[in-house]
Amino acid sequence: MTAKVIDGKVIGEQIRAEVAAEIEERVRAGKPHPGLATVLVGENPASQVYVRSKQKACAEVGIESFGYNLPATTSQADLEKLVADLNADPKVNGILVQLPLPPGFDEERVLSTISVEKDVDGFHPINIGRLAQKGRDPLFIPCTPAGVMYLLEHELHSLEGLEAVVLGRSNIVGMPVALLLVRANATVTICHSRSKDLKEIVRRADLLVAAVGKAEMVKGDWVKPGCVVIDVGINRVEDASKPRGYRLTGDVAYDEVAEVARAITPVPGGVGPLTIAMLLKNTLRAANLAEK
Ligand code: GUN
Repeated sequence: MTAKVIDGKVIGEQIRAEVAAEIEERVRAGKPHPGLATVLVGENPASQVYVRSKQKACAEVGIESFGYNLPATTSQADLEKLVADLNADPKVNGILVQLPLPPGFDEERVLSTISVEKDVDGFHPINIGRLAQKGRDPLFIPCTPAGVMYLLEHELHSLEGLEAVVLGRSNIVGMPVALLLVRANATVTICHSRSKDLKEIVRRADLLVAAVGKAEMVKGDWVKPGCVVIDVGINRVEDASKPRGYRLTGDVAYDEVAEVARAITPVPGGVGPLTIAMLLKNTLRAANLAEK
């Protein structure tokens, strides 16, 4: 079997076009452009790339972005003060504090400072709490997990009763994805660095979400024929033949797994574009909610 390649760029582009059209309509009706504040602390090169692409995507759909780049030496109090000021600014509908923060920051306190109504990343403890509870709904679904679910539902339509395996239990991807899969009535197993018999567990999966940050960890013989594989990993691997000296690869050994899977996301060009599309959608939602 050769897997269908799930083209996140094309799907992400469709979502972005919908967001752009809705914003155009808002503006025509005399409403302001939605606004997103991005807060980047320190100089993590990958974070700088991500934040720049988020700002570029905002500009393309008519979201005004307000960028704050702070040195790693910023104090916890100053960072919280900035967030509080952004909470009070009516031009700012969404606030995104790029993670990870440099060592020494209390991440939970920073995320808790963001107003729930502006928490377009969906990382506020109240949002995550609602995501984890039956009969409750978060105001915003975290962007990468929302993108993963969009791709899975696009591919499989219903996830009900399917065996889902999530590799990784991070706050940003693994855990919220697992919660969303439960909400979609899948049977969910979360694997992590201490799991035993990883390969055997992964082989049970009808759908696999890999989000561990280990280059090409999932091999072809780990995957059940016909599985739908979503690769969230973005790993830099040294490669002297590339101009930058590295290439990007996922958590899945793509060529091998593509031989057995039914569908697979490439890296780059799979989940990444969906993360950004969902951020734009969440920011538009925040702007609409602010007017209610
Ligand atoms: N770091 C990695 N992914 C994300 C994300 O979706 N949002 C934020 N704020 N930080 C991240």
